[in-house]
Amino acid sequence: MAVLVLVFGVVVLGLCICTALLRWNEVRYRKKGLPPGTMGWPVFGETTEFLKQGPNFMKNKRARYGSLFKSHILGSPTIISMDPEVNRYILLNEAKGYVPGYPQSMLDILGKCNISAVHGPTHKTIRGAMLSLISPIMIRDRLQPKIDAFMRSHLSSWDGKTIDIQKKTKEMALLVSLMQIVGHESNLIVEAFKSEFYKLVLGTLSLPISLPGTNYSNGLLARKNIVNILKTIMEGRRACPSNQQDMLDCMLREEDPRYKLNDEEMIDQLITIVFSGYETVSTTSMMAVKYLYDHPKALDKLREEHFTIRKNKGPEEPINWNDYKSMSFTRAVIFETARLATIVNGVLRKTTQEMELNGFVIPKGWRIYVYTREINYDPLLYPDPFTFNPWRWMDKSLESHNYFFLFGGGGRLCPGKELGIVKISMFLHYFVTRYRWEQDGGEIRKFPRVEAPNGLHIRVSNL
Ligand code: HEM
Repeated sequence: MAVLVLVFGVVVLGLCICTALLRWNEVRYRKKGLPPGTMGWPVFGETTEFLKQGPNFMKNKRARYGSLFKSHILGSPTIISMDPEVNRYILLNEAKGYVPGYPQSMLDILGKCNISAVHGPTHKTIRGAMLSLISPIMIRDRLQPKIDAFMRSHLSSWDGKTIDIQKKTKEMALLVSLMQIVGHESNLIVEAFKSEFYKLVLGTLSLPISLPGTNYSNGLLARKNIVNILKTIMEGRRACPSNQQDMLDCMLREEDPRYKLNDEEMIDQLITIVFSGYETVSTTSMMAVKYLYDHPKALDKLREEHFTIRKNKGPEEPINWNDYKSMSFTRAVIFETARLATIVNGVLRKTTQEMELNGFVIPKGWRIYVYTREINYDPLLYPDPFTFNPWRWMDKSLESHNYFFLFGGGGRLCPGKELGIVKISMFLHYFVTRYRWEQDGGEIRKFPRVEAPNGLHIRVSNL
């Protein structure tokens, strides 16, 4: 009996403490005019529920509080916006005080001059410098021919093999970017760069705790090593100028004072280019392979487009710019994959001052999660939204509707959009014209990022 009473007492005490902590955390953030919502536990907030339930966490909250609500996730008080109009407003109005709000770990590891860490006039300079490297003309004249050559070689000798397409597309996305930033030297540094880069990626989404062995510390160390690798190449180029016309060359030779960057800025932009095109390009490529396997009609149509291009070419003849421009169904497959898989769930902003948003008050320094995922499944925009239907994108107006946020929007619209599409198109070209494949199961996790936890294994054979 005494034991029962004791257990009961402990349970009641535990409940009281929990209620007090939850209540305290609500009171702490209480402020007139804030959007509705709950803040969860001190320090941890509602992060566990958010990561565990993913999109359902968001939908349940929206059902309860509406499309704009508050929570405490990933270490910060956060306003979550699921309202397409509000999302558009935030993306188009950075100048009013909605600047990027990415986690501290990401800013520390990608560098203080990386494009997402800067705003105002500095962002204008850095973005201008970046756009000059990946403009449509640069893609046409310099980048596309090299991407073509890379894919032709990367996708050779897959016949008869079982490969993990997740691993292969990640490798593809990293190597193709590395080749673009430092040309021939990429062959010399690839192994050292690769292992450091994987640690850097892990570190960008970690708790910023500087203890030995944490992902954060490993990420910072990896950044240091990558910076040293790039610095050595820069010094070599200065001592003995190359004429490779890769991105580093273009940066070193830049004469336009508006876009001339110092060494630190150059290095941060090079790292950002590799980082930004890594998971986005690799995951879209992997998911396209999966969806095409599941939808043979779309695969047939895609093959038809690519064989029409190959018809007048020799077996080793490269794809040229006009060929690429004629790949309209391929572009549609890429958009449909990015939409259906939701490669990017949303973007993060933070307020630089107290703001009024949709009748609510958003305190200074709070994060805003511009959550765009649900727009991808809006049946008014995309009838039968859970079906993989690339044909819907053949209507070109879909690419320019007001709520098209697959590549972000406003002044931060992805500058690498076309470059990413070229890479995935070249990959698909060589993949579907050379091979057929059988898929061996493969679970896909959709949140917080799209991934195949055990890899996506396919058995490949020549067509
Ligand atoms: C399928 C491929 C891609 C997708 C889905 C994608 C998506 C996005 C999204 C949603 C944003 C907006 C981020 C924000 O507003 O905070 C963004 C920004 C950015 N992306 Fe991409 N991206 C892709 C490929 C690439 C590639 C290949 C590059 C390489 C250059 C790149 C470089 C960037 C950069 C530098 C920014 C930041 C722009 C700024 O802050 O002004 N992206 N991307």
